[in-house]
Amino acid sequence: MPNSVVIHSKIKKFKKIISVSGDKSISIRWVLFSSLAKGVSKAKNLLLSEDVLAAIKTIRKLGIRSEIKKNECKIYGKGINGYKYKKNLTLNAENSGTLGRLILGLLINSSKPIKLIGDNSLSKRDFKRIADPLTKFGAKFNLKNNKNLPLTIFGSKELKPIKFTEKKGSAQVKSSVIFAGMRTNGLTFIKAKKSRNHTESMSKYLNLPLKVISKKNYDKIYVSKVKKIKNLNYNIPSDISSGAFFMVLTALSENSQLVIKNVNINPSRIGIITILKKMGVKISFQNKKNYKGEKIADIKIKGAKLIKPINCPARLNSSAIDEFLVIWILAAKAKGISYFKNLEELNKKESPRLIWGSRILNKMGVKNIVTKNSIKIYGNPNLKINKKIIIKNYLKDHRVFMTSVIAALSFGGEWSIANPESIKTSFPNFLKLINELKKQ
Ligand code: S3P
Repeated sequence: MPNSVVIHSKIKKFKKIISVSGDKSISIRWVLFSSLAKGVSKAKNLLLSEDVLAAIKTIRKLGIRSEIKKNECKIYGKGINGYKYKKNLTLNAENSGTLGRLILGLLINSSKPIKLIGDNSLSKRDFKRIADPLTKFGAKFNLKNNKNLPLTIFGSKELKPIKFTEKKGSAQVKSSVIFAGMRTNGLTFIKAKKSRNHTESMSKYLNLPLKVISKKNYDKIYVSKVKKIKNLNYNIPSDISSGAFFMVLTALSENSQLVIKNVNINPSRIGIITILKKMGVKISFQNKKNYKGEKIADIKIKGAKLIKPINCPARLNSSAIDEFLVIWILAAKAKGISYFKNLEELNKKESPRLIWGSRILNKMGVKNIVTKNSIKIYGNPNLKINKKIIIKNYLKDHRVFMTSVIAALSFGGEWSIANPESIKTSFPNFLKLINELKKQ
């Protein structure tokens, strides 16, 4: 791949049906559950991106065999206590916060210390949010600067169940504590601010001892020790977070139309749909169905004549957390001022995304006011870009790259966007799909 992608013309109108790749959150969870199942688990359409491959490498290091052939992945689980490894083991979560955080929950009872490392971006991210609750169970941690990677986890055989309040709306923190609860005698209780619930859905589908009582703003989750996980064959649905780039591209292209097939529309993930509808975009679900505890549909979307500004309700934040960068590209064309608030978590992602969102808009000539947890965007329905724009040094955050490509194709100008290889973490065929849309 070249060092930069250069885009100097807007996309022409298109009418297409596409499929985006498998859901990253579900793919990683499938790998982790299967690694502790008894027997062979098979997945079709597993996302074969660097984050998911890092999960597969991780379970291999824990002694679990796996095979990837064409579109099928097999994991040969050896049961709930099947991890086997030598002393001085180092696991590498690479760029993946989900892998790095979730695996720690599963390692809470490990008999030998395990070191966890990650890439430059992951090494800047907060792991205290995981070490704190897992320490209450009885594990011990050494963290760089008391909060970062590299860290070492010292598991315990004498774990105690905990009561924990998850206040950030982080599915990674919630899931890590659920996994730790599954390794611990007694009843663990989590009061969790709403966030994506794939861990809970998969646990329920597998009949694991987990109970969720759903309230308006939070869930009460009760977890007991898991004795056995049955093997799990799974057809991974497409990722709405990958689809989001194509939804915004279509919305910004008048007279275009797109259908994205077989997308996971779990209610905890569809904030972008609510937001786009509020902004006047015509978007609908077709062929809805249920699949192994998840909801799936084709998403149909049409180019919009007029984009309305939005005062985005903070209750949608968690269900659209990975989509804000590209949503702001839509807000750039709205007739009026849009406002997004209570988003301090965004600066804790693969790159500081509030800051990067604002930077991209500034480069596009779109007025915006950013604080440490909010952004106000002064939309311009006649926005056209005629200048050179360079996007680089953004910690190789895949979503900064893809958002910039969508902005370039929607508004014109002469863009040079560095590090296209960043897409390999979540959406390796992103540029290929863009090229398909360009073909008339
Ligand atoms: C994810 C949870 C979210 C999201 C990430 C994937 C998951 O992170 O941003 O891309 O699979 O659990 P937080 O839980 O930290 O908000």
